[in-house]
Amino acid sequence: MNWLNDNINVLTLIGAAVIIILTVGIAGKYIKQMKTDKATGELTGDNWDGIGEFSNPLPTGWSLAFLGTIVWGLWYFFLGYPVATFSQIGQYNQEVSDYTKRFESKWANPDHETLMGMGEGVFLVQCSPCHGITGDGMDGKARDLTTWGGENHIVNTVLKGSKGQGYPLGQMPAGLMDKASAQAVAAYIVQDLSKSGKSKHPELIAKGKKLFATCGGCHGMDGKGMGGSAPALVNYGKAQFVVAVLNHGKKGNIGVMPKFNDGRLTDIQKTAVGTYVDSLGEE
Ligand code: HEC
Ligand code: HEC
Repeated sequence: MNWLNDNINVLTLIGAAVIIILTVGIAGKYIKQMKTDKATGELTGDNWDGIGEFSNPLPTGWSLAFLGTIVWGLWYFFLGYPVATFSQIGQYNQEVSDYTKRFESKWANPDHETLMGMGEGVFLVQCSPCHGITGDGMDGKARDLTTWGGENHIVNTVLKGSKGQGYPLGQMPAGLMDKASAQAVAAYIVQDLSKSGKSKHPELIAKGKKLFATCGGCHGMDGKGMGGSAPALVNYGKAQFVVAVLNHGKKGNIGVMPKFNDGRLTDIQKTAVGTYVDSLGEE
């Protein structure tokens, strides 16, 4: 029998046997004593309506066995088996984390082509169920990502507001400025602040820079998001802006987008899918 080769199992069995023998023996002794009509032994002297009490201190062997069991239980749980031993779950986690490390070092410096390939793969598996294979949002089930990262998205955000990513500043109110001004700010952000692309309206950039004061109160005048209080607009149109969404998740007007910060995507995979999402945009 295999399990008898294991010292801890044998010790546990011996312990169990000792406890059973002690219990049966001592219980038997008292049951026998109860059955005899003539009680013997010392009385404690307490008397309740004529009923006395025997002085029966706990037998030393029994108390020692009881305390020993507690010590044994603690030892067994913390040092013996359950928490200090091999587990398949632990082995699995270890293997996954080793694999992730190898993956991260293999792709430590990916070129654009690699990011796009990896990003497309991640997108099809993780994002397309909600955003659609082409990223069009499947008739409003999720955000249409084909306008994401461009100037129009900024204009829409300024007109409609934005909420649900859980930034410390809460939501961005709708209607901070009119459409023409938003257009100018968008030109400034895209071409000057984040330098993510060429604006369609370069003549508006100077005006947009002035108007950006309205945005700077929350996003910082440098557009860096004031230490995480609001999204960093310096990243607008870049992979990092998508990565920020992935790390925050979003409970918006369309619906709920889960957070992707639970380790199911590595940093490189997030950057890759961010790069891919940006490529879906119109500009
Ligand atoms: C009252 C503070 C506040 C002001 C003022 C503000 N924003 Fe925002 N902005 C936020 C917050 C908070 C978010 C994140 C909202 C969310 O959870 O989606 C945000 C998000 C954004 C986003 C990202 C939207 C998205 O879909 O993820 C853009 C773009 C943006 N703001 C641009 C601007 C511009 C341009 C201005 C100036 C016209 C501006 N914001 C003014 C607080 C502000
Ligand atoms: C369970 C469905 C679901 C999955 C999976 C999902 N999304 Fe989303 N996503 C949404 C919804 C819904 C919204 C719109 C939230 C809103 O604005 O109400 C959204 C919004 C977005 C936005 C815009 C956020 C903003 O601030 O406006 C981006 C970018 C995005 N998703 C990227 C991704 C990427 C990349 C993946 C894959 C890694 C992904 N999503 C996976 C449902 C999903």
